[in-house]
Amino acid sequence: MNVGDERSISYWMHEAPVIDAPPLTADAECDVVVIGSGIAGLSTAYELSRFGRSVIVIDRGGIGNGMTARTTAHLATELDDFYSELIKVRGEDEARLYHDSQVAAVNRIEAICRDEDIDADFARVDGYLFPAEPDHCSWLEEEYQACKSINVDVEWVEKAPVPGIETGMALRFPNQGRFHPTKYLRGLAQAILARGGRIYANTVHAGDKETDDGVEITTEAGPVIRARAAVFCTNSPTNDKVAIHAKQTPDRTYVVAGRVPKGSVPDALVWDTYEAYHYVRIQPLDETEDLLIVGGGDHRSGEAYDMEQRLADLESWTRERYPSFTGAEYRWSGMVFEPIDFMPFSGRNPGNTNIYIHTGDSGQGITNGVAGSLTIMPLIIGEDSRYAPVFDPARKSLTSTSSIGEFIREQAGAVKNFAEYIGPGDVKSADELQPGEGAIIREGLKQVATFKAEDGSVIRRSPVCTHMGCLVHWNGFERCWDCPCHGSQFAPDGQVLNGPAVKPLAEVEE
Ligand code: FES
Repeated sequence: MNVGDERSISYWMHEAPVIDAPPLTADAECDVVVIGSGIAGLSTAYELSRFGRSVIVIDRGGIGNGMTARTTAHLATELDDFYSELIKVRGEDEARLYHDSQVAAVNRIEAICRDEDIDADFARVDGYLFPAEPDHCSWLEEEYQACKSINVDVEWVEKAPVPGIETGMALRFPNQGRFHPTKYLRGLAQAILARGGRIYANTVHAGDKETDDGVEITTEAGPVIRARAAVFCTNSPTNDKVAIHAKQTPDRTYVVAGRVPKGSVPDALVWDTYEAYHYVRIQPLDETEDLLIVGGGDHRSGEAYDMEQRLADLESWTRERYPSFTGAEYRWSGMVFEPIDFMPFSGRNPGNTNIYIHTGDSGQGITNGVAGSLTIMPLIIGEDSRYAPVFDPARKSLTSTSSIGEFIREQAGAVKNFAEYIGPGDVKSADELQPGEGAIIREGLKQVATFKAEDGSVIRRSPVCTHMGCLVHWNGFERCWDCPCHGSQFAPDGQVLNGPAVKPLAEVEE
């Protein structure tokens, strides 16, 4: 846990912390510096270290404590936004290449587990997509045809393996996968260290500049890292102010997990067709029990405050469909970045020569993160990168009428946010706050992000997000400040938990 990081703790984080690492305390040099220690960052550092490159990984918090530890780690090669939609905006050739990248990612994880002897509970399982409503069957048929057109292995089956309901006809995708994400990250980190790589926690990226032969990364505590290349894998890039942030929107998703008797829920990936779709898998626990992990309830970050209700809805959805579910033992939330044209951004950062980024994972952060590493590593070592053309962060984002409409609606949220500068505030004074609660309070002409700590003391900060000036909102479930525009999160005391913001919320000017 970071200092001041009161965000929800996932089952993975409870069960298997990644590694302890020191902060960077002196200037350093390397071939490649990777900012961010989630699946994309550690995978990229690992691949580069295998090719003899000296790597340094830094993370603003603990190693592997970001969004990778808050996923449910479905290793699905089916696109959660549907290949039928991707084909409409990018055509069959690019959709086929994207699918290839997902297959390659699952294969790569399996191979690394084997080669590095990482016991991360990797298993091949089938994936099932079932209609949430009877009239969604036509969507599945459209998806089935789209999959067939780009050689995705799929078939119709009588039902999905959901014990409590008759799902009706479903699509089965064989040879998907699941694993334990933090056990895997720990294995990757150890493999990087074994090859001479260096990993530093609690080391905050404060600035970056390209030099004649590389890049300099400055850190908040002072030390500078000089490298030939830098790769930003920070979920949302902290090096970029605008270019990428105009092409993706932040969504929040929720997860509940609880025990089921072993064998009562099939070992498979299962998801449905709601726009905020439910996604289900198990994680083996012991000889007698598995953990049933169910996600869903997504909404645009900062636009909903009924987190407890969403988690309760998720739990009752689960009980109805999985009668052996014994109740939510773990509840957590994560941030997902939705790219405008369904595919992530992996490659050279627009306008830079030696700076690379990976972001825009949608609901497929694990496979996209690994696919990103397989894209960026060849670019850095000067080899052909098969997936680079489709993942290029500078690509022109072609869109279908429906996706651009949805994206404009989501981007409009950022514009609307600026109207809140003249809003009344959430409550009138800190007296109305319970310990552990935060709210925006209007004080004369200004607004103040106000948090009441457990001991009754009050922390006041400017609510102006230090990325691009939107106003933050209180996230009561994760007990932090959320920026609805591009997904930054701040601790109650204003420290950055999640980029793209780099600087903490400012002190309040009296
Ligand atoms: Fe961009 Fe807050 S994250 S303005």
